[in-house]
Amino acid sequence: DDGGPLAGKRILLSAGGTREPIDPVRFLGNRSSGKQGAAIARAALRAGASVTFVAAHLDVPPPAGVELVKVETAVELRDAMVERVAAADVVVMSAAVADFRPARRHHSKIKKRDDVPDAPIELVRNPDILVELVRRRDAAGTQQLIVGFAAETGDNGADVLAYGRAKLERKGCELLVVNEVGTDRVFGLDENSVTILAKDGSQPQHVAGSKDEVAEAVVVRIARALDAR
Ligand code: C5P
Repeated sequence: DDGGPLAGKRILLSAGGTREPIDPVRFLGNRSSGKQGAAIARAALRAGASVTFVAAHLDVPPPAGVELVKVETAVELRDAMVERVAAADVVVMSAAVADFRPARRHHSKIKKRDDVPDAPIELVRNPDILVELVRRRDAAGTQQLIVGFAAETGDNGADVLAYGRAKLERKGCELLVVNEVGTDRVFGLDENSVTILAKDGSQPQHVAGSKDEVAEAVVVRIARALDAR
């Protein structure tokens, strides 16, 4: 307890991108680097919190000073979160979770033989972890604060924010950090530009800067939301 704004608070945070195995050599993945999640973990540590960092695939080393839990798939990520969520004051879902996974994992490499069908990979939907965590929190009747992320690709900023508002509503979390992404921006870069939306209806907060600066703003916002309770 160093007296920071999150002193004594326990944060459960997911970061990185899940990888859904197709066969022993291939997977379905995404471009999440885990940088923004790692930056939030570091900012939360600086603010005095203890952090459990559930890491899917990362392009960066996990932050020092966290309790590290490594996962690969969405289902593993879900299990890791559910197992630890009851102990958390704040949950941050910054991981990029695959919406679908291959229906079955082939135990040997799929060969491009003539008898393989043209579309050999059947997909099934993954659980929405964020929605499940909100539901569990509501069932437990606790004051846990839950923060979601939304990576949107839009043709203009207005679309992205409209999507974000609808998503905040649908997911039921208190805060949603919305950013516009694309292969030419955000992923793997050190800069970010986000809008923080709040369920309490307060003004959308735009933050542009390094991922560390965005992380600071998110942590300040979390601390403020906790204080308001
Ligand atoms: O619906 P969408 O994937 O855009 O929502 C993003 C938010 O939901 C992120 O916080 C992400 O971590 C979370 N999510 C999840 N489980 C999924 C898909 C997304 O928890 N299957």
